[in-house]
Amino acid sequence: MSAKIIDGKAFAATVREKVGAHVARLKEEHGITPGLAVVLVGEDPASQVYVRSKGKMTVEVGMASFEHKLDVNTSESDLLALIAQLNADPKVHGILVQLPLPSHLDSDLVMNSIDPAKDVDGFHISNVGLLGTGQKSMVPCTPLGCLMMLRDHHGSLSGMNAVVIGRSNIVGKPMANLLLGDSCTVTIAHSRTRDLPGVVRQADIVVAAVGRPEMVVGDWIKPGATVIDVGINRIDKPEGGTRLVGDAHFDSCAAVAGAITPVPGGVGPMTIACLLANTITACCRANGLAEPEGLTA
Ligand code: GUN
Repeated sequence: MSAKIIDGKAFAATVREKVGAHVARLKEEHGITPGLAVVLVGEDPASQVYVRSKGKMTVEVGMASFEHKLDVNTSESDLLALIAQLNADPKVHGILVQLPLPSHLDSDLVMNSIDPAKDVDGFHISNVGLLGTGQKSMVPCTPLGCLMMLRDHHGSLSGMNAVVIGRSNIVGKPMANLLLGDSCTVTIAHSRTRDLPGVVRQADIVVAAVGRPEMVVGDWIKPGATVIDVGINRIDKPEGGTRLVGDAHFDSCAAVAGAITPVPGGVGPMTIACLLANTITACCRANGLAEPEGLTA
């Protein structure tokens, strides 16, 4: 194996440390405690795990955590009323509504009801438009985490060929916009892309965000390229039990790549760290204070 392993777990810890230092400063110098509200509708087990983890880390960095757990049958009007209340609450600087929502709720409508200034997921249509036009916005957490790791590894990304595999609103599209903002030449590939291996072989940076276990293999990777693996897939082990794998086949890709993020311990830990970073950013903007450096795009 030749690739450098990009340690997302360690990097996320340094991001949380920076956030914690800013929280302490906001409290001491301005008497402000940044607050993050997380709304969970229903009892999806994976979402419950994420929400618990978000709450725990929010408190660990010294922020206030407000958790709202709603019944799976909550009506759209009741959810919108809660969001309106959080929008108006000065103690709440960031609002996150955990996805996926139960099917009777309109996710776009719900996301667009969050005050864009408190939209720490960056999913509100205003933030999507601001990012797409290169203006200051709230940036979705997973792509922000990927960008931070890429900048940390490469310094400048200017002029590099980047291929993003996956066109989701949560990862693929915002990731492509962020890479474009850092002057990469960007291709968004997806399930209908012709000759996907050939397209990926052109890439200096590959971001795999398709949700297909171990789809990207070493033969697709240009020697020395950087592979950022956003996938988190649970697969059966031949000997019984399960294990987590990414969208890239780790061993074959690591044999060719210059650097690669592992699963687990790569992109995953960065997502929550960036949620905390976005909450600090939102809090500083709301109070007319300078934003922390290195925690935004
Ligand atoms: N569910 C899976 N990923 C995310 C995310 O980044 N934000 C929210 N709100 N829900 C999610």
